[in-house]
Amino acid sequence: MWVAPSLLSCDFSCLREEIEDVVRGGADLLHLDVMDGHFVPNLTFGPMIVKAIRKLTRLPLDAHLMIENPEKWVDRFIEAGADWISFHFEACRDPISLAKYLKEKKIKAGLAINPGTPFESVKDILREFDFILVMTVNPGFGGQRFMKEVVEKIERIHSYLGGEIPIEVDGGINAETVEYVLKAGATIIVSGSYIFGSPDRKYAIDSLRRENGDKGKA
Ligand code: DX5
Ligand code: ZN
Repeated sequence: MWVAPSLLSCDFSCLREEIEDVVRGGADLLHLDVMDGHFVPNLTFGPMIVKAIRKLTRLPLDAHLMIENPEKWVDRFIEAGADWISFHFEACRDPISLAKYLKEKKIKAGLAINPGTPFESVKDILREFDFILVMTVNPGFGGQRFMKEVVEKIERIHSYLGGEIPIEVDGGINAETVEYVLKAGATIIVSGSYIFGSPDRKYAIDSLRRENGDKGKA
């Protein structure tokens, strides 16, 4: 399994130290939440900040685009140094073409799905992606409560894909809720407020890991 701290909950006034802290703590990739104030009711940052973060670490950068018309913006995030890019099924008119485009550019393409989006609506396109990002809160803010009702969808996606494509989960993950998602088949764990809200980030990251996870798969 991989642990991806979400910088949304870090202290941006000391971004370098915050990143170094989670790198020391064993983070496998950094999750970057890009919000446009349209697709979600919040605004965060764009490619300029991704570019700055790129200079601060060699870890893969996992850009989670919570924006309308992601196809208009992906080039900017690629230039900024993102390695993985996920965009929302609900925000994109032609998700298959965008997945193909990202793959051509050697970027890992992720399909992000909201808690309310059923398995049946995405089933036929899942295999076009390098990873699936299942939201376990409604996107927009850190620190929300984990929605347990999404676990069944993770199980369905996992059994449909037979473990071939990694499943990333995002929202409300802590040392307790991680149990449900790992059991359901997730292998990439995003966690923001739990990790950055903890005085000991290494302890928090370690507390999310389980022995039976296969790091190689993610
Ligand atoms: C929410 C974001 C998440 C957020 C998770 O829209 O996509 O990545 O940072 O934060 P926590 O772990 O606090 O729920
Ligand atoms: Zn996210």
